[in-house]
Amino acid sequence: MSQYRIAVVVGSLRKESFNHKLALALAHLAPEGFTFEHLRIDDLPLYNQDMDSQQPPEVLRLKSEIVSAQGLLFVTPEYNRSIPGVLKNAIDQASRPYGQSAWAGKPAGVIGVSVGAIGTALAQQHLRNVLAYLDVPTLGQPEAFVQNKQDLFDDKGHIGNADTKKFLQTWMDKYLAWVKTHNG
Ligand SMILES: Cc1cc2nc3c(=O)[nH]c(=O)nc-3n(C[C@H](O)[C@H](O)[C@H](O)COP(=O)(O)O)c2cc1C
Repeated sequence: MSQYRIAVVVGSLRKESFNHKLALALAHLAPEGFTFEHLRIDDLPLYNQDMDSQQPPEVLRLKSEIVSAQGLLFVTPEYNRSIPGVLKNAIDQASRPYGQSAWAGKPAGVIGVSVGAIGTALAQQHLRNVLAYLDVPTLGQPEAFVQNKQDLFDDKGHIGNADTKKFLQTWMDKYLAWVKTHNG
């Protein structure tokens, strides 16, 4: 039986998104007892504070999925040296109305894949800044900046490169321990 439900937020809406693939591959590195559910963010309206008193059903759905999770896993590309707008929109939506944020206290991991060697480093730093304000305890180390190379994924969608798999296994072990620690 699953004891820990991880809400996965992928910062790309692209069908063939490498970050989406990375999120799926990471789930294969978790032991039994963890389930990974991808939160839908592509149907959220653009955030408008006028709607705080009547949040649309898509936003209420997102908030309730976050509230019922024991951990958050953000897997995001870097867009123009920051986080994609769709991700920020989802974060803003679920953070409001003031005092009713769904994010507070949920332990999080931040990771991402990009074509560049230091890809997602700046996006991850920007995301950490936002999450700190929202009172989301975020795993500090190890950091994980994954570069997309041809053998990153095998034909089953698992991590294909042995060294990368070893590194990501360590990262996942630390992240899942972080989730457990924050769920006492
Ligand atoms: C609007 C836009 C801005 C981008 N900016 C960056 C960037 O700042 N740093 C970077 O490493 N890659 C950047 N890229 C390239 C992305 O890393 C690459 O497209 C990646 O595959 C996107 O992630 P996805 O495959 O999950 O959709 C950018 C791509 C787009 C579409």
